[in-house]
Amino acid sequence: MAAKKTLHYQCQECGHITQRWAGQCPGCGEWNTLLEQSGPLPKSTSKAGYAGAAGSEVITATEVDVTGDPGVPTGITELDRVLGGGLVPGAVVLIGGDPGIGKSTLLLQALASLIAPAANGPGLNGIYVTGEESLSQVVQRAERLGLPRDGLKLMAETEVERIIASAARERPNVMIIDSVQTMHTELIPSAPGGVAQVRESTAQLVRFAKRTGTALLLVGHVTKEGALAGPRVLEHMVDTVLYFESENSSRYRMVRAIKNRFGAVNEIGIFAMTERGLRGVANPSAIFLSRSGASPGSVVMVTREGTRPLLVEVQALVDQSNLGNPRRLAVGMDPNRLAMLLAVLHRHGGVATQDQDVFINVVGGVRLAEPAAVLAVVLAVLTSLRHRSMSAD
Ligand code: TYD
Ligand code: MG
Repeated sequence: MAAKKTLHYQCQECGHITQRWAGQCPGCGEWNTLLEQSGPLPKSTSKAGYAGAAGSEVITATEVDVTGDPGVPTGITELDRVLGGGLVPGAVVLIGGDPGIGKSTLLLQALASLIAPAANGPGLNGIYVTGEESLSQVVQRAERLGLPRDGLKLMAETEVERIIASAARERPNVMIIDSVQTMHTELIPSAPGGVAQVRESTAQLVRFAKRTGTALLLVGHVTKEGALAGPRVLEHMVDTVLYFESENSSRYRMVRAIKNRFGAVNEIGIFAMTERGLRGVANPSAIFLSRSGASPGSVVMVTREGTRPLLVEVQALVDQSNLGNPRRLAVGMDPNRLAMLLAVLHRHGGVATQDQDVFINVVGGVRLAEPAAVLAVVLAVLTSLRHRSMSAD
């Protein structure tokens, strides 16, 4: 008798499995994400996390060994800032971002810096596993970045079992996987890139990292909606999620921590893409100011990103509208908040903008979230409306 074929449907977003197809995933509520899968129902094998490494006895908190490593600085100041100091042994960091934004470049630079011998001893043992590019492409990039080739260990492999076997022999302190979407495991029959594959491959790598104390840096791709591609479950499995972003056509890149079990999440690292790779930007205020000298509609404010103060320019353009419903557009702040500010300005300040289009732009791709920013926005709107500039007095 032929074995009955088991069909089921899996959400490509959250990994939820159902027996019947539906337009909306019952797990995460996303639409059109359920895909037909054949073969046996996958067993839940995602045994990820620190807990697996400890035994199952009950102990009191005072008995727990807390002499953890404070983390090894990667030598790239802006990256260390978002990591919360450096790389902690056994930590798993997921780095997401659009294609071509510089994930591979940054990780190669970080690895080269980590493996370089330091004044107080030899460098770390590190492996760069590439599943996307050939070894020669990686070496060419290293040459282009001016990084030394000796000591740089590379592996072109996409099968997790083989990566783990090699890593068990090499015993690296740090391992880079570029990227998790290309990884597959023989435990799961489905195609690489699918939710089940990515999740199970990552789970195996995470378990390896926790068991051996290897710091793991994973590259993840981003869907067009901006979520880390495929399973959002990845974000739960790792310790730190960093997100690379940049404004269109800008050479500046921001790395933001979305989740960090080892530090704060509000820090940002700022880089410039140069012909010799990513350079940390020491004075980010300079890139958030479009020009010097005051002009109508332009107001400079001090905001805070993480622990560092930044000078940011808020630009407003207020212009006579010929629409019945004038436009309110805001880049870098919530448009609803802008609409509310204009209402307050009218009601309590007697400044009418009902017949004006109002456009707000925050220079450099910064998002203004702090309450104090409303003052700068209001002043920018007023100066644009009145054709006056904010002078020093
Ligand atoms: P890459 O790190 O390959 O991006 P990702 O891994 O996120 O897809 O970066 C590729 C882009 O960066 C590519 O468009 C070329 C550019 N680049 C530079 O401008 N300078 C450099 O030194 C390098 C290595 C890349
Ligand atoms: Mg890449």
